Amino acid sequence: MPRDAVPQPVRLSDYRPPDWLVDTVDLDVRLHPTATRVIARLGLRPNPEGREGSAITLDGDELALKAVTLDGEPLAGSAYVATSSALTILAPPQRALVLEIETLVDPSANTKLMGLYRSSGTYCTQCEAEGFRRITYFPDRPDVLAVYTTRIEAEREEAPVLLANGNLVESGDVEGTSRHYAVWHDPWPKPCYLFALVGGRLDRVSDEFVTATGRKVDLGVYVEPGKAGRAGYAMDALKRSMRWDEEAFGCEYDLDVFNIVAVADFNMGAMENKGLNVFNDKYVLASPETATDADYANIEGIIAHEYFHNWTGNRITCRDWFQLCLKEGLTVFRDQEFSADQRSRPVKRIADVRLLKSHQFPEDAGPLAHPVRPQVYREINNFYTATVYEKGAEVVRMLKTLLGEEGFRAGMDLYFDRHDGDAATVEDFLACFADANGVDLTQFALWYAQSGTPKLAVSGQWDEAARSFRLDVSQTLAPTPGQSDKQPMVIPLAVGLVGPDGEDLPLVLDDGTNAERGVLLITQPKQSFVFRDVAERPVPSLNRGFSAPVKLTSDLSTAELVFLARHDADPFNRFDAGQTIALAYLVEATTAARTGRALSPPEALVEALGSTLEDSALDPAFIAQALSVPSEGDVAREIGTDVDPDAIHDARKALRQTLGEALAPALKAAYARHAPSGAYSPDADSAGRRALRNASLDLLAAGGSPEGIARAVGHFERADNMTDRFFALSVLAHSAPDAREAALAAFYERFRDDPLVVDKWLALQAQIAEPGTLARVGGLTTHAAFSWSNPNRVRALVGTFASINQTQFHRADGAGHDFVADAVLELDARNPQVAARLLAAFKSWRVLEPGRRASAERALRRVADRPGLSPDVSDIVSRSLE
Ligand code: ARG
Ligand code: ZN
Repeated sequence: MPRDAVPQPVRLSDYRPPDWLVDTVDLDVRLHPTATRVIARLGLRPNPEGREGSAITLDGDELALKAVTLDGEPLAGSAYVATSSALTILAPPQRALVLEIETLVDPSANTKLMGLYRSSGTYCTQCEAEGFRRITYFPDRPDVLAVYTTRIEAEREEAPVLLANGNLVESGDVEGTSRHYAVWHDPWPKPCYLFALVGGRLDRVSDEFVTATGRKVDLGVYVEPGKAGRAGYAMDALKRSMRWDEEAFGCEYDLDVFNIVAVADFNMGAMENKGLNVFNDKYVLASPETATDADYANIEGIIAHEYFHNWTGNRITCRDWFQLCLKEGLTVFRDQEFSADQRSRPVKRIADVRLLKSHQFPEDAGPLAHPVRPQVYREINNFYTATVYEKGAEVVRMLKTLLGEEGFRAGMDLYFDRHDGDAATVEDFLACFADANGVDLTQFALWYAQSGTPKLAVSGQWDEAARSFRLDVSQTLAPTPGQSDKQPMVIPLAVGLVGPDGEDLPLVLDDGTNAERGVLLITQPKQSFVFRDVAERPVPSLNRGFSAPVKLTSDLSTAELVFLARHDADPFNRFDAGQTIALAYLVEATTAARTGRALSPPEALVEALGSTLEDSALDPAFIAQALSVPSEGDVAREIGTDVDPDAIHDARKALRQTLGEALAPALKAAYARHAPSGAYSPDADSAGRRALRNASLDLLAAGGSPEGIARAVGHFERADNMTDRFFALSVLAHSAPDAREAALAAFYERFRDDPLVVDKWLALQAQIAEPGTLARVGGLTTHAAFSWSNPNRVRALVGTFASINQTQFHRADGAGHDFVADAVLELDARNPQVAARLLAAFKSWRVLEPGRRASAERALRRVADRPGLSPDVSDIVSRSLE
């Protein structure tokens, strides 16, 4: 796409089948640092469902065409039109034919990291969404499925390892030269976005897996030389994922080989190319000295995610990019379920909901809101969002809640059965669940079409005389960009009625039926439910397990919330009750901070957290989650308008200090009780003990008391693993300005040669909520450890500053906004995808108080006015300002 040519919107309603199909792709790729030659031999035929007699139109992007032949004959110049962005064969014979296209590409100059590029010398590819057209001319759309054979040739010295999709069929030396080659064949038809090749000098960790039907699969994890010692956990997670998918979904692996390659320069987390997953090294490499418990959990989840795509994404792919959630939402749901089974299910659910609320809810509430299945896009790369991924997963989870375990599995089985080999749609997916269960999902489908977070208001009324309890529920959905009128949604609301003794009461509705699996079906704007035989006043526990991704408000009193925080049988709601109390307090405290009003102490919260801390039956990982006070972003979202980030910060800081003091004895006891025993292990139980110990350390130091700081310094110095060391460093960075610099310097000296650890060091400094941080971050952009061309470095430093540091990004003088706008402009020429993602940090700018809102708008307009913006940044900035 040439710069300044703002791309035309692409609409779902304009979908047409391709005019030409490609059955086979034979690629011959001769790797060269600046002039890689690609010969693509395409076996094409007219699509009976396409328009008759049409030209062959192939997409391209920054390609140089060298030659083109049709059935072996060179094409006359008048028979085709070639530009760097398209190749059109004007009047092709309307029959099966072979087109051979030779192009030249320059992988070293490819700073967008889309198509074929180099990462620390390794040749690698990223084709999703539209990168294959940067390698050769091709109908670059997911509904064109072909069988690929790939021959790669390279200097043996430069690239001893040569990998592509599928199985290796041949390899050897190119006689009389210093070059060698490998031929890979992938028997499974696939869209071109799943193509990959890798060439480089890499170390390999090997293992094998025997599938349910006894087929042996060779497994390989490839990493930069010298890093094989850090790939063991990824390999272990891969084998567990392969087994789990057989057991949970009946999905077996289908090639002789499964390879993973870790690269240092990658735009996203990882990519599910058939048989050859390419990963950001952040999600492969781990050792106790360099990775935190959170890193281990992410590696496990992302290895599983990409592996699970083999069935949900690859065997069944998407008809068009509007259906992205068909593979992404479903696969996120599957990886969440996997992690829940491998670890603690309730703690995993809490972590997933926190992520949803912190990333997806603000997206859905601002100018970038879009449906789980968008209707229109100008740049598809901007739709790899929390809405498509995380809300998409919630929609699948709701299907399971509505249909039950068996009904859900029956729908999935039918989906695999009916659509294997297809490029499918959301309608196809839903039809499988409707058909397998004999239900109508028409209204449910609104979850894919309507954007915005539904609001659910619930109130309860106990009738002592009638021994009944009534719940009145009403739902609303506010207008979002492009959607002014909304229809009521289907909301599966899991509920419980908790009796005075803390036990759940039976849920018998007034018509004598049971609320099935404890789920009330909300389908109308207003509905009431009456439960019978309720002899004592219950406390309703609402939206248990976060059964629907809604914003729920209720008439529960603070005392009732404290009761739920102590007694709810549903662990998620037990956690959530405490958070609701804390959030309400923080909103009030923020107002108090702005108006100089006095505020009563947070007694209810101290009470709730105190009993959680003392409950020895609880999982330490759960207690750690309960102790974490809602983030500044959470509070800003709750306030929703005229937001002053400094007031929020002050309120939150004061609350944390108060909690640290009020709960000190219990926190000290928890800290002592969870001291490490034995060597570091990344398992969930050990990680949970560390999480609680560190959460205790954090609250004890929150007020900056000499005792709390001394404890953190000792923790830092004695740490024998990255989780403890980095946590202590964070406490010092945030709460101990005097101890901070020495600790940061010591940490850097120790890990300066390890880029993934340096990222933690950069990210931590970007988060400090002090006026000096902007200058510090600016200074770090010229530090030897920083580079604008590595997406991980940029995200760690600038991305963290913009997305986490509410007080300094939104500085009252506007300098934080200016800094990020400048960074976006700096990056855009190099890597538009990373630039656009950074710019999306402005998404909640309209909720700010007027002064900050004006400075955010000025910064956005300055970006918008820059000539020559990429389609990526131009799309985000224009929607942000709409
Ligand atoms: N399919 C990949 C994943 O979920 C994400 C790739 C997105 N890449 C991009 N350039 N938009 O796991
Ligand atoms: Zn994915």
